[in-house]
Amino acid sequence: MAAAWARSQKRSSRNVAIAKTSQMPPRTFLATAAATGAGVLTWGATQQQQHQTRCDVDAASLAGGLVGGLAAGAVGGYMLGKSKADAVEAKYDKYWPRKIMLLFGAPGAGKGTQGEKIVDELDIPQLSTGDMLREAVAQGTAVGKRAKAVMEAGGLVSDDILIAMIAERIQAPDCSKGFILDGMPRTLVQAKAVDEMLAKTGENISLVMAFDVAPEILEERICGRWMHKASGRSFHVKFRPPKSMKLGPDGKPIPESMKDDETGEPLYQRADDTAEALKKRLKGYNDQTLPVLEHYRGKGIVRTVDAGKDMKAVWAEVSAKLVNK
Ligand code: AP5
Repeated sequence: MAAAWARSQKRSSRNVAIAKTSQMPPRTFLATAAATGAGVLTWGATQQQQHQTRCDVDAASLAGGLVGGLAAGAVGGYMLGKSKADAVEAKYDKYWPRKIMLLFGAPGAGKGTQGEKIVDELDIPQLSTGDMLREAVAQGTAVGKRAKAVMEAGGLVSDDILIAMIAERIQAPDCSKGFILDGMPRTLVQAKAVDEMLAKTGENISLVMAFDVAPEILEERICGRWMHKASGRSFHVKFRPPKSMKLGPDGKPIPESMKDDETGEPLYQRADDTAEALKKRLKGYNDQTLPVLEHYRGKGIVRTVDAGKDMKAVWAEVSAKLVNK
């Protein structure tokens, strides 16, 4: 039982950020439990005081009785608090919608970089459609074969593929408490499809974190990026160099020295991370993706961050804007 209580405490504190943003603080049940326990202890102390003033006889047996009473009261209070806590948590599971947020921004704006930190904070998965497509390409699936050339050239993969892909992914058990959409929806057709998909379960995207960055700094970010395939972690030769990086006589990183900080596995450069493909990606972003932002702005759920600052400063803004005001 103590272990179950410890687990529920851990879960609730890990999910504080989710709770804040979904307007249901699970801290409430901890406060209730704490208050109940505190009530029992206060009552015990008052009783002890009364006994001391009324009858000073047999202090030892009185003390024993009080200790037992306090212990029983504390356990009773704990049990009461715990059952209330369980009831509140059950309601949370039943009624409150999943936290569903969207990371929005141009290629290289920092969605992947900051998304990694949001995952740590909220403990919900980041669903990157780019990563899913790259995996499909690597596996040589039917979807991968259709997507490969389009992606390398910096174009957008067709809406039907993306809609089917995300519809399946959000059914997975790890999405039960919520998820972070990264790179989808990217067209108005996709946005409407996602809205309809979520509306079927009474849900909607509740927060769009928009990364605002000047286009002229994107080429340096994109062309200096190295990725870890399994995790999707991104590094940068200048802004986030892997610990293993060594430079050659030309001042450029030696490819063999580029390894993931956590696993030591080799990093790679994406086929579409070229200045030429970036031009096409930015055109697609301006023509087809920016209207998605306007679509959600009308719903009052967009929060914009200045993503042109350094990574730490961007995170300070992102983390502040995750919280409900
Ligand atoms: P996708 O993988 O989604 O790529 P993207 O949207 O172009 O975004 P990026 O991953 O390039 O940028 P990011 O914002 O995550 O940047 P990061 O944090 O890594 O999509 C790829 C392709 O798949 C698309 O072109 C399309 O073909 C297809 N696709 C995917 N979804 C689709 C959809 N829904 N519909 C149709 N087609 C779809 O940062 C970039 C670099 O900068 C890193 O090296 C990082 O270390 C560095 N950096 C980050 N923040 C900072 C900072 N503050 N200061 C300095 N450096 C920084």
